[in-house]
Amino acid sequence: MITGSSYGIGFEIAKNLNNPNNNLIITSRNKKKLINSKKKINSKNCFTQTCDFEKNKSVHDLMLKIKRKFNKIDIIICNVGSGKTCKTGDENREVWQKTFDKNFFSTTNVIENYLKIFKNNKHLTKIIVIGSIAGGFKGNAPLSYSLAKNCLINYVDQISAFLASKNILINSISPGHVLLKGNNWHQKLIKNKSKVLKMVNNSISLKRFCKIDDINNCINFLISDNSNYLNGINIKVDGKTK
Ligand SMILES: NC(=O)c1ccc[n+]([C@@H]2O[C@H](COP(=O)([O-])OP(=O)(O)OC[C@H]3O[C@@H](n4cnc5c(N)ncnc54)[C@H](OP(=O)(O)O)[C@@H]3O)[C@@H](O)[C@H]2O)c1
Repeated sequence: MITGSSYGIGFEIAKNLNNPNNNLIITSRNKKKLINSKKKINSKNCFTQTCDFEKNKSVHDLMLKIKRKFNKIDIIICNVGSGKTCKTGDENREVWQKTFDKNFFSTTNVIENYLKIFKNNKHLTKIIVIGSIAGGFKGNAPLSYSLAKNCLINYVDQISAFLASKNILINSISPGHVLLKGNNWHQKLIKNKSKVLKMVNNSISLKRFCKIDDINNCINFLISDNSNYLNGINIKVDGKTK
């Protein structure tokens, strides 16, 4: 199950995890977009569920539906998040709340309700949380986003020991600047190519954007048995960004 997977990074993760031997649940708030994304994935094992992960009740209802239909979840990718917020210094109470709802509570809601509804599960469940290098205050992102992601990465670290006692492994992946067709960075690149390329050359040691394969390769490792002794870690997939 992937949170926020009708487009963007979540959708690309869904395409990577699509596999005839497993069921795949893609989620977002917009039913139409989800149905469209399911068509693109084109698999009879792909299911769509609308859910607003920022709302606890909505996540509770989703977990109940999944429990009734599938009885278990092997892998959860908590992907919902966004750096679209006000610039540093312009924050107010509402901005803090919205940014934390999107980038922090969208994940804690999943874990809280997973624990409630799947409490007697005995099999190993893996949770991968999508953080950001902004969580380490790199990449010059807005403060509210950076702090929310910082809390998220620390939450993963701190909750991991408790979750281990429930047979759950949790780790995070923190991508750098991800270039995807149509996304923010793609639009910036079209608008001002030389400025963006200069930023990439000056601030990313590997002098290129993060590709979706860089993220998916990490996910493939974290969901495999090869990573079964890793818990509470944060993998930075950022080409060493300043
Ligand atoms: N893009 C980057 O360069 C970058 C870099 C580092 C980290 N990240 C992290 O990677 C993750 C994905 O980023 P992205 O750029 O791919 O995001 P995105 O393009 O904004 O995609 C967001 C996806 O999440 C869904 N969504 C948003 N809010 C939701 C909610 N409350 N409940 C359910 N679904 C929701 C959207 O569908 P609906 O709006 O229809 O619900 C969509 O499917 C985020 O956590 C982001 O912080 C991104």
